[in-house]
Amino acid sequence: MQQRYAVPGGRRGSVIGERELDVLGQLVSSDATLSAGGWREAFEEAFARYVGARHALSVTSGTVALEIAIRLLDLAPGDEVVVTPQTFQASIQPLLDLNVEVRFCDIDPLTLNMDPAALEPLLTDRTRAVILVHYGGCPADMDAVMKLTRPRGITVIEDSAHALGADYHGRRPGSLADISTFSFHSTKNITTLGEGGMITLERDDWAERVGRYRNNEVDGDYVRHGADPGAAPAALPWMMFADEIYDRACSGIRNAGTNATMSEAAAAVGLAQLDRLDELVERRRLIARRLDEVVSAFPQARTLAVPEGVRHAYHLYTFLVHDRDMRDALLRELDERGVEVQLRYFPLHLTPEWRFRGHGPGECPVAERLWFEQHMNLPCHPGLLDSQVDHLVDALTAALTAVTGATPNPGGAAAAAV
Ligand SMILES: Cc1ncc(COP(=O)(O)O)c(C=O)c1O
Repeated sequence: MQQRYAVPGGRRGSVIGERELDVLGQLVSSDATLSAGGWREAFEEAFARYVGARHALSVTSGTVALEIAIRLLDLAPGDEVVVTPQTFQASIQPLLDLNVEVRFCDIDPLTLNMDPAALEPLLTDRTRAVILVHYGGCPADMDAVMKLTRPRGITVIEDSAHALGADYHGRRPGSLADISTFSFHSTKNITTLGEGGMITLERDDWAERVGRYRNNEVDGDYVRHGADPGAAPAALPWMMFADEIYDRACSGIRNAGTNATMSEAAAAVGLAQLDRLDELVERRRLIARRLDEVVSAFPQARTLAVPEGVRHAYHLYTFLVHDRDMRDALLRELDERGVEVQLRYFPLHLTPEWRFRGHGPGECPVAERLWFEQHMNLPCHPGLLDSQVDHLVDALTAALTAVTGATPNPGGAAAAAV
């Protein structure tokens, strides 16, 4: 297919190579199961080790991971959940199904992550959970968030869809909150052949619930009453699970289960991708460094901050410009120069579904100002060739020069007027 853009946005966030083709070949030419087998187990073990979590449970997408994570909260009517507006809709969409109070917390203009200073006043004795994202791959200020939430018994979900490969003071997203979710969608830092997701957590009882739910079993409470020869007919080999079924009783049902099993092909590729994750993220960092140099050379533009002790995974490259006219002109200039820009994300509290639930303008002034006036994204993914990165750097320099009328001042970050 003819590519319209010299520098495409990231429809593919990763690179599939020999290693992935090799494991797929091994799998297909063996007689092993194609569902719920050894590759899934190996991928989950390696993933848990990588992020430093006790449990890693794979599922079919980041969206499903979030649906399940939110189910684990057992939210009841009247409960409150504080969320970030600056994320993809899947981060909080399951809350639309529940009769709970959602509070949108404004963001830090330096990182676009949830601002702990804005979080504190939103917490009440009805707050049950906080859902945040590590925007673009830059870990949120988790020390501050956990310090506010831990003593109040509030559960924190970190949507780590962007942050695989990031580092937070020597720890990794996936082990910084109570529950973490990941996406292996085609655009993400690694992919499991286009779709896939993971949940990481510490609690054994939650891991057991996730295991059941994703495996078409009911998310319920069970009591084991022990083998009772009177109640259970002797199990014959063809009576699948008969012993287990007769050996326990259901004492409550939260939800019906579903089938969210990651296929063996997806897991095998995921394992190979995880092996090369650091190299893929380094490539993102290199591209981001080159873009930062250009942005810093213009006082009317500003790079986002990377806090001390944090390593960004650059799922997205984002920077800010001075005002709306400049942003709109820059979008046109970049488009004409063959750079595909995909702006991410429209503040969720202003989407029709959340406005229908009573949310609206003024609720998160920082998120709104940045989105409508200053927010810019650029392509930043390891599939870009060196020549495409050079093109991107030249196009950005020329576009910023054209819209600001300024000549670039290399190393001029300190003069930023944004
Ligand atoms: C922040 C965030 N959360 C959740 C998701 C949903 O992941 P998936 O596309 O795997 O369902 C995405 C992705 O696309 C995302 O960017």
